[in-house]
Amino acid sequence: MNTIGTKTIETDRLILRRYVVEDADDMYANWTSDPEVTKFMPWPTHESAEMTRSILEEWVSYYDDPRTYNWGITLKGEGHVIGNIAVVERDERTCSYEIGYCLGQAYWGRGIMPEALRAVIAYLFEGESDLNRIYATHDVANAKSGRVMQKAGMHFEGVLRASKRNNQGIHDTAYYSVLRSDLTQ
Ligand SMILES: CC(C)(COP(=O)(O)OP(=O)(O)OC[C@H]1O[C@@H](n2cnc3c(N)ncnc32)[C@H](O)[C@@H]1OP(=O)(O)O)[C@@H](O)C(=O)NCCC(=O)NCCS
Repeated sequence: MNTIGTKTIETDRLILRRYVVEDADDMYANWTSDPEVTKFMPWPTHESAEMTRSILEEWVSYYDDPRTYNWGITLKGEGHVIGNIAVVERDERTCSYEIGYCLGQAYWGRGIMPEALRAVIAYLFEGESDLNRIYATHDVANAKSGRVMQKAGMHFEGVLRASKRNNQGIHDTAYYSVLRSDLTQ
């Protein structure tokens, strides 16, 4: 598959950009340290800014690989990161990507993540001619994540029972997707 890597994306209210290691303190303060944000995530709440920094150092090193899609979400005019959106799984055989995201609690309820997700979907389909399917999943108990997918134009596909694990344990998982052909219909 042709890959375009993580380039800056601008929307009405947001700039999605590459991380720099100096984002560690904002990332820790805004989401990785907050158990309300990590409640439905597969990774543990961070116990120190150092833990966030060491993950960020790895993430930044991955940008050399053009198959890496990992954005820090910022509000226009304020440079600090308030959330994350990324391609978390790739399947070259089916030309399909899974997207994951999370946002600092102080920023919930303003439609920020649907705006980011719509922009990332457009960026990937425009930039990668082979890409055919973009999907996202959520714990059925985390319905507000499903709302994000709906508002970004994704289609509900179904629920796979006891199919993933997060900080709440093994859970039933709702799947949403958008196909390239959905955008041309
Ligand atoms: C899920 C999440 C990304 C939503 O992002 P967002 O930018 O707040 O999205 P929206 O503003 O469109 O709100 C989505 C839904 O969240 C709910 N919501 C809104 N404000 C809320 C708040 N302050 N507290 C709790 N829920 C709220 C609403 O049900 C809303 O749906 P509605 O617009 O139909 O009423 C964000 O809550 C988050 O990061 N949660 C923790 C991490 C996570 O669960 N990630 C997804 C894993 S699959």
